[in-house]
Amino acid sequence: MSGQLTFPDGFVWGAATSSYQIEGAVAEDGRTPTIWDTFSHTPGVIVGGDTGDVACDHYHRLDEDLDLLVHLGIRSYRFSTSWTRILPDGTGKVNQKGVDFYSRLVDGLLARGIAPMATIYHWELPQALQDEGGWVRRETADAFAELAGVVGSALGDRVPEFLTLNEPWCSAFLGYATGVHAPGLSDRGAALAAAHHLNLAHGKAVRALRAVLPSGAAVGVTHNLTQADPADPRSEADVAAARHVTDISNGIFTDPALRGRYPDGLIEATRHLSDWSFVRDGDLAEICAPIDLLGINYYQPASIAAPGPGRDGFWPGTDLAVALPQRGPYTGMGWSIIPDGLTRLLLATHQRYPEIPLVITENGCAFDDAATEGRVHDADRTDYLRRHIAAVHDAMAAGADVRGYYVWSLLDNFEWAEGYGARFGIVHVDFETQRRTVKDSGLWFRDVIAANGPPQ
Ligand code: FCB
Repeated sequence: MSGQLTFPDGFVWGAATSSYQIEGAVAEDGRTPTIWDTFSHTPGVIVGGDTGDVACDHYHRLDEDLDLLVHLGIRSYRFSTSWTRILPDGTGKVNQKGVDFYSRLVDGLLARGIAPMATIYHWELPQALQDEGGWVRRETADAFAELAGVVGSALGDRVPEFLTLNEPWCSAFLGYATGVHAPGLSDRGAALAAAHHLNLAHGKAVRALRAVLPSGAAVGVTHNLTQADPADPRSEADVAAARHVTDISNGIFTDPALRGRYPDGLIEATRHLSDWSFVRDGDLAEICAPIDLLGINYYQPASIAAPGPGRDGFWPGTDLAVALPQRGPYTGMGWSIIPDGLTRLLLATHQRYPEIPLVITENGCAFDDAATEGRVHDADRTDYLRRHIAAVHDAMAAGADVRGYYVWSLLDNFEWAEGYGARFGIVHVDFETQRRTVKDSGLWFRDVIAANGPPQ
């Protein structure tokens, strides 16, 4: 095929990372342990026993990594701030050295002509707050609002866009229900309480940010919204199960934030897991603080069926739906490559919340890349990115209001429970030498940015 897909002027092309996945330096300059430090040091929970202790050593290689962004022509860089670098006790005393690191990062971006986008929470709860109950405890939402105020005051004069939370679904359901992420707990009722307190944290943080940010600053939140497809679209039970997954994974966050209520029927459907007494008068109004953008992270859709004989694998956090294996092709991690799932997800989200601009804050794939003679030939990743960027274009052509696309990730990094084996970067990292090598997909993405769209 030939021809060029063109995106609107001003469409933002970016790359994303998160603090624990790249920074290392976990015990330096006043940083204290988070739930991911504790979890990654727990034997048997991370592939290969990997930890984020060193990661990409980005804390010490800041300038080199910012220069890579320039080399790749990246227009906006999405990074996250580490809670315990800034507030080592979780609340209270501010650690100036931690603030200074992010200030240098922001100044370094601006000096290079790159727009910063800051995520305040990318899963690193202070261990001190987890010891008091973590997200199951209501007070954690107030602690988060305090952090947001500190970050906003320190960086808000230079950062035009803030995201409160990254993927609270993972924090709540993988952290508290399935236990595959920190803090590693398995209690579905607790996960629902965590989801509500994350919602509350978001709402309170939006207000804390507005109080300190200049009036033009944009505030949003990022979700890994699930495109839940019924395994058999003719089966009423599968359709109902897919609807339930949409409610308990997406609507549980987006409806309170954008509509001031929980999805119809969700509370009733989950009464056997929790009495929902954690929702107090006034909470929903507080959660529904006006925001300017909704970030969406997309990797693959889900094929959902009603529970039944021979069907195992409940969807995280519920016993009312199961996730079935999906068709290929697959990434190196076994995730399905289904780009039209992204088109459908964007259109469904736009239909449900037509007023809010959408940004793809993460999209990408892991393959087992090797660097040889200064090159990484990752044609599979280029193909994945090309097809997903085209899927975004399709959604926009059909009316979705999408403002930008951030590739996950700038660098190969610590992929949570998967450790360092799952390489998502458009830049390869040799974790022995810390040598960076731009992959072919990175060079291709540079051309996409320069042309404001990929060749078809
Ligand atoms: C998302 C996370 C991100 C990264 C990608 C692969 O769920 O936000 O940190 O791990 O998945």
